[in-house]
Amino acid sequence: MEVKLSDYPVLREPGGSAAVRIPEVLLDVVVVHTQDGCYTAIWSICTHGACTVAYVPQERLMECPCHGSRFGEDGQVLRGPAARPLSVFRTIREGESVWIFRPR
Ligand code: FES
Repeated sequence: MEVKLSDYPVLREPGGSAAVRIPEVLLDVVVVHTQDGCYTAIWSICTHGACTVAYVPQERLMECPCHGSRFGEDGQVLRGPAARPLSVFRTIREGESVWIFRPR
């Protein structure tokens, strides 16, 4: 799955993050530029319910607005009530694009 940096310029700088939703391919993630040239893509539907989890840049984690579950950048649960981690997809940058590899 290709994410063009021209569509999400905030992802050019380390620390930048953006919600990327491509409904046609059922993609709903937050892409984070974790450190120079390294990216991650974290699934953004909470594993507790169906709420959309948002990235909190100051704390470098994902937080659910519904019941307060928190997840690390690696998807692991930091705080319940969610019990299962968020999926995290291998993500690489190539030129002006970030590619998300999601298993089918
Ligand atoms: S739906 Fe996310 S914590 Fe309940």
